[in-house]
Amino acid sequence: MSVNVHVNSPNVRYTDTHIVAQYSYSSTSVNTDGNKVTVTPHSTEMTFRTERRVPQLGVMLVGWGGNNGTTVTAAVLANKLGLTWRTKTGVKKANYYGSFLQASTVCVGSGLEGEVNVPFRDLLPMVHPNDIIFDGWDVSAMDLGSAMERAQVLDWSLQEQLRPHMSRMKPRRSIYVPEFIAANQESRADNVLTGTLAEQVEQIRADIRDFRQSSGVDKVIVMWTANTERFCDIVTGVHDTAKNLLAAIQAGAEVSPSTLFAVASILEGCAYINGSPQNTFVPGAIELAVQKGVFIGGDDFKSGQTKIKSVLVDFLVSAGIKPTAIVSYNHLGNNDGKNLSAPQQFRSKEISKSNVVDDMVQSNPILYQSGEKPDHCVVIKYVPYVGDSKRAMDEYTSEIMMGGINTIAMHNTCEDSLLASPIILDLVILTELCQRVTVRPQGEEDFQSFHSVLALLSFLCKAPLVPSGTPVINAFFRQRACIENTMRACLGLPPQNHMVLEHKLQRDFLPPYAAHINGGVAATKKAVFTNGNPARAKGTFLPCGPSHVFFTPGSGQLDTPVLVRFLFPDRSLQSLPLPLLRHGTSTAMADKEKRRSGVPPPPPPPGMPEGNATRSDSDREFLSQAGLGELLRGAILKMVEARSDDPIGFLADHFCNLAATTERGTAGCGDADQQLSNGPPSASAQEQQHLNRALWHLRLAHHSQRSAFSNNVCVAYDLLNLTGPHRHPGEAPEGPDGSCTESPTGGGGGGGGGVRGGLYTQTLECLCSEGGVPASTFAPLLRRLHCQDHEAVPYEVFRHGVLTCAVFSDYIRQAQRLYAEVCCPDDGPASRALSLAVLGTLKEALETSQGCEANCCVNANTKGNSCLEAKAICYLKASSKISPWKLAQAMSGAQARGPGGNMDAKEFENAAAELFITRVKVVS
Ligand SMILES: NC(=O)c1ccc[n+]([C@@H]2O[C@H](COP(=O)([O-])OP(=O)(O)OC[C@H]3O[C@@H](n4cnc5c(N)ncnc54)[C@H](O)[C@@H]3O)[C@@H](O)[C@H]2O)c1
Repeated sequence: MSVNVHVNSPNVRYTDTHIVAQYSYSSTSVNTDGNKVTVTPHSTEMTFRTERRVPQLGVMLVGWGGNNGTTVTAAVLANKLGLTWRTKTGVKKANYYGSFLQASTVCVGSGLEGEVNVPFRDLLPMVHPNDIIFDGWDVSAMDLGSAMERAQVLDWSLQEQLRPHMSRMKPRRSIYVPEFIAANQESRADNVLTGTLAEQVEQIRADIRDFRQSSGVDKVIVMWTANTERFCDIVTGVHDTAKNLLAAIQAGAEVSPSTLFAVASILEGCAYINGSPQNTFVPGAIELAVQKGVFIGGDDFKSGQTKIKSVLVDFLVSAGIKPTAIVSYNHLGNNDGKNLSAPQQFRSKEISKSNVVDDMVQSNPILYQSGEKPDHCVVIKYVPYVGDSKRAMDEYTSEIMMGGINTIAMHNTCEDSLLASPIILDLVILTELCQRVTVRPQGEEDFQSFHSVLALLSFLCKAPLVPSGTPVINAFFRQRACIENTMRACLGLPPQNHMVLEHKLQRDFLPPYAAHINGGVAATKKAVFTNGNPARAKGTFLPCGPSHVFFTPGSGQLDTPVLVRFLFPDRSLQSLPLPLLRHGTSTAMADKEKRRSGVPPPPPPPGMPEGNATRSDSDREFLSQAGLGELLRGAILKMVEARSDDPIGFLADHFCNLAATTERGTAGCGDADQQLSNGPPSASAQEQQHLNRALWHLRLAHHSQRSAFSNNVCVAYDLLNLTGPHRHPGEAPEGPDGSCTESPTGGGGGGGGGVRGGLYTQTLECLCSEGGVPASTFAPLLRRLHCQDHEAVPYEVFRHGVLTCAVFSDYIRQAQRLYAEVCCPDDGPASRALSLAVLGTLKEALETSQGCEANCCVNANTKGNSCLEAKAICYLKASSKISPWKLAQAMSGAQARGPGGNMDAKEFENAAAELFITRVKVVS
């Protein structure tokens, strides 16, 4: 399952290339003076910008032929090929369990069905693991097929299927410095580089370039998943600065292979991640990364025992229980265990595992005196028989109330490389995403990226590497929240606060977005949560098409009554154009709401008479039932789109237009919702209601706001498709703007149903007539787009028709303005010669819009119907960009030698319409 998350907020813009989000970052500064703690909140406005194009990612693994290297490569291949295999417990299917991006979800708010959780990977555009291309180095020459067998991780029947593919992959020769890994690894080292250290680093750089070029990937990330090295002594003049480190490599001083790989990657501009515990990132390597603006991350994959520790100790300490002794034993039988059986390599692991509880312990001065820590002991024993199936045994001893002791003993058997592989994928995918995110705090001119030391990766690392002087966070859920909330910021969404206040107070306080966004469905169906309350969520998600989530942040509430009274001082609220106003139901629903709460209203504020409080309460309920929030949101969206200099005048015009359209009510374009009050609607009345709601959605965003408009077309289509949505399981392909481009109901027509031809035609009529365009002008267009009454109109045809008509109505209004330019109202109709000259210029503009058409189609990376839509928009742009000079030239030429007589406005309009209509292609 994959979903398309779209945030519907004026703070978020989806351009062809970026998601641009305005975000308020809240922080606090704290001043401690004795036992007085003063906390000052701050808020910083920021712009987050996320590049939307997901590149082709190449990952180069150092230690590719090891258990992790072969397992992650095999797992991606098995997923890509959709492999299944038999085991003694049944048929298994390739998956990405254990990857928090691929297999965990994020709650984005509440919708009609309760909380909506979307896959983490769908929050922002990200690389899919199936698309990663692997390469790498290993000191062992064994091909990946044989190395996979040596690893003894995957079931044999799966290995058999993968072997032909894996055997073709061969690791490149690597840097081998025997002093850094255990002596017991020597027998593997038959694939090593020779030459000076500097020459070997040059060869690694050449390998990266070669891989990039031969595979065609856009980006390369390098990761160390080779054996754990011993710690490297940091020597001043050698490892301390970037300059010294580079000089030391030239001079052949002691630099570990993992650091040499880091230097080579950084110099090639490739992010480098260290999956092992040793101190690869000596100060000189960090400085080099910062200088080159390259991401580095590490250390040591947080896969099993440590992950549990970072959850369990967090739980104990935050529950007020005091862990006093943590003892961890490991039995490990794979090559990693063999390497770690050497004391120096084990020491690296021990250090990496030892600090994992520090931040949690230090966070609680009630339980721990300054400098006090629990006893923490880690033992690793090499037990060949258990192979990759590691045993981790932990004992947590804690003090509880009144001198009581609590002991938790845990036995954890886990396949080591199957835990590490999804973490490898998360690390590279998250790193790549971070390379596409930039942030501009208020007042700064330039966007900046994250710090080169990518602390966001802490969640996946045992010993998180953070920029010097910044806090290390090990607590599991704090680390996860950091990633989640950073991604939410990229979408302009506030951090997840888990307060869910809308379900905790006595009365509802949020506007009922759900009731209006989901049109007819919501009118009858209110989301009921476990506590029995109707949904009043802060933010609403509208399922829009297959796997499409449309988010309306609940923030930015408007003071609805004040604004309405201001704009329409002489109108009663009931006379406002409310397409979704349900006069008949509002009182009943309000009554129900009151009954539901079952608690008397709180006393009025001091100074306010009792009656007033009750009335204002019911006013508010009435307004929320009436859908004014949505109506005003629509108006604000339009205003944002138009960026009018005169916002009040603009809003007044907008509501007057809406009122005119509503009151006209011709051709089914008006508000028929009042029928709702007269009992259950007949079939045709029901169609009429659906039509009105669909039109209301279609009018919410102008077609130039492509993403919002496309989403609204999806909603309208679903509303009109009375056969009911038939969602297909696949993904909804994204439009170039991230919008919904495919049928929300699985293509309409055939088995999936479709909008009835008659309803489709009515929709088009209404859209064409926007702004008073007469029926006779758009009739030829409708004949071109026509579908039979009984036909089931598929989504693509519907989308094309709707967009064409919306553009057409704008175009005609533009043509009317052109005519107004050439006619003097007092002298009657315009001269025929001038009118023909203007029409000629218009025609020329449409013809020369070919280049723009081609661009649209190329830019939009679209074919077929989307390209036709792009053309329609090009005609509109071309017609609006006729140069005044050209017009004047044509008009002056025409005055000299053009035909005599006049041309009235209608004839001009029809001629202009014809120019457009003849260019409209019919979608089949
Ligand atoms: N759950 C886990 O598997 C886990 C968790 C955290 C960290 N790690 C770390 O990940 C690393 C890899 O684990 P593994 O189980 O795949 O080990 P492994 O021994 O199976 O694989 C390591 C590979 O690295 C190769 N190698 C050694 N030195 C090299 C060099 N200089 N250049 C290129 N290749 C070299 C070896 O030949 C071997 O194929 C270890 O350091 C381990 O501590 C693993």
